[in-house]
Amino acid sequence: MCGIVGLVAKDNCYSRILSTLGRLEYRGYDSAGIALLSEKGFSVRKKKGGVSNLAGEPLAGKTGIGHTRWATHGAPSDANAHPHIAGKFALVHNGIVENYAALKAELLREGETFLSETDSEVIVKLIARAYRGDFFAAVSSVCARLEGAYAIAVLCEDCPEEIVCAKYRSPLVAGVSCDALYVCSDAPALSGEADAIAAARDGEFIHIRDGKITFCDREGNRLERAFTPVTEQERMRDRRRGTFMEEEIFDIPRALSDTLAALRRTDFAPCARAMRSAGKVFAVACGTAFHAALAFKDTVEREVKIPVLCHTSSEFRYRDPLVGKGDLVVAVSQSGETADTLEAARLARSRGAYILAITNVARSSLASLADFSVAMRAGPEIAVAATKSYNCQLLCLYYVAAELCFFRHTRYPAYMAELSALPAAATAAFGTFSAMDSLAQRLQGAQGMYFLGRDADVRTAAEGALKVKEIAYVFAEGYAAGELKHGTLALIEDGFPVLAVATRADLFRKTENALEEVRSRGAYTALFSQCEAISESCADFKCRLPAVCEALMPIIAVIPLQYFALRMCALRGYDPDKPRNLAKSVTVE
Ligand code: AGP
Ligand code: GLU
Repeated sequence: MCGIVGLVAKDNCYSRILSTLGRLEYRGYDSAGIALLSEKGFSVRKKKGGVSNLAGEPLAGKTGIGHTRWATHGAPSDANAHPHIAGKFALVHNGIVENYAALKAELLREGETFLSETDSEVIVKLIARAYRGDFFAAVSSVCARLEGAYAIAVLCEDCPEEIVCAKYRSPLVAGVSCDALYVCSDAPALSGEADAIAAARDGEFIHIRDGKITFCDREGNRLERAFTPVTEQERMRDRRRGTFMEEEIFDIPRALSDTLAALRRTDFAPCARAMRSAGKVFAVACGTAFHAALAFKDTVEREVKIPVLCHTSSEFRYRDPLVGKGDLVVAVSQSGETADTLEAARLARSRGAYILAITNVARSSLASLADFSVAMRAGPEIAVAATKSYNCQLLCLYYVAAELCFFRHTRYPAYMAELSALPAAATAAFGTFSAMDSLAQRLQGAQGMYFLGRDADVRTAAEGALKVKEIAYVFAEGYAAGELKHGTLALIEDGFPVLAVATRADLFRKTENALEEVRSRGAYTALFSQCEAISESCADFKCRLPAVCEALMPIIAVIPLQYFALRMCALRGYDPDKPRNLAKSVTVE
């Protein structure tokens, strides 16, 4: 979490840092700050709350750093907001210094006093103490003492047009334009600013000096790095609707169509070879991406009869998984920067497994550590709640399942032909939105709700429930319809909402039975299906889904639920783009 930016420009850089921070705000929005360096020294403004709180008299300086925070150490407050200052240095940090307590104790013993409760302030104090006139050497020597994760950008009053940055397990890119040099947490935040971008790797430093950007190792040895133009995929689009989440839901057809086109251009042969010789196949991911990974498992096991071991990344890391040489691990992550998924992939790789990354960010850490990578084309996803990336993850994973397994896949040609129908079906799903609005109005006061399904629909149910929890702050659980009577039914009482997804014709009646069971105990029931049988259903509320082939229905069936969550959120008076306690990309453990 957290977004950092650093900038050396030909003229005052205040408004550029502020606008870049605005584009970084989705990474954390509990506090924000900026420090500019001029011949008079640092001018600093930092405040609890969003980037808009930094507006005011422009600060002076052509060199500056900025930060938008998602607190890990110390509550959101003006004092804990970054940048942190010590002596001649100002610093912004994304990550966690895991050994900060020991380092802080050492500094306190030596008489230092601290203005914040953050782990980050320890870094800048150490740099100030290590400084002997060589800015880069001071930063580099301190980084050697840090454990944990960091992307830092540091200014020094002795070096007016210089920024030293370091990266370890938190993302960092450098960017260039005709009149400025940048470092930033991600490429989309440099949209409209930088023309070309290069990403740093773990253990590397970026040094902006003498009007140039240099990538180097910790001794300061220059590393070759090619800058490539900002791609269309990385460019942040203008927002035409009220919130990013709404914008992104309405972008699903475009995202599916671009992703499909990219998939058709991808050469799967090397990965298919690895899959063929793999002893075991794993899928790892977190949150929404985990639901997509589970859908992959369902498909591969049903269609290809190969078992897929699916784990949340955080569990995989610590359970001594049965992964070994030659296995294939499919790692799914929109951002490609989720710490748990990256660590899961690194662990698997260290044991000799191949990694296939499914990510929306081509320059991400996950893409660069993977053996094979399938780049989605969802475009930047800014809203914290994942929407279009989930539809595209499902598409990629279904495609991968078909491509990697086609040698045994009897239904391959028909299945591939059906994929073209997805963008139009997604657009048709928007036709359910006014009904979703009515449903949200009916349920906006609910204290909790269940989402039910069977087989692939359980994944859709779980994803619908996650959305409702995440942005509408209503307790919700996605559940296998058949499990209901084994305990959960006890919670059903008058008016309790139960939403069921039933896209498999052969299981439709079974899911209907579960709805009957809760309805006869007073539940308010809603049913989502493309099956003809929905017209005879007893459900209190019925939503007819646009039809594609059953195997692909999860890509479409989730769309009304995404919109339902958005409407629940709006009607309950919350901002879907900034849900409490969350941030978009969980780059810390
Ligand atoms: C989804 O709405 C959530 N914000 C969250 O569960 C997210 O999917 C998860 O943190 C994984 O992120 P990633 O896909 O970027 O790895
Ligand atoms: N650990 C730092 C803080 O709490 C940075 C947090 C982060 O990057 O998530 O301020």
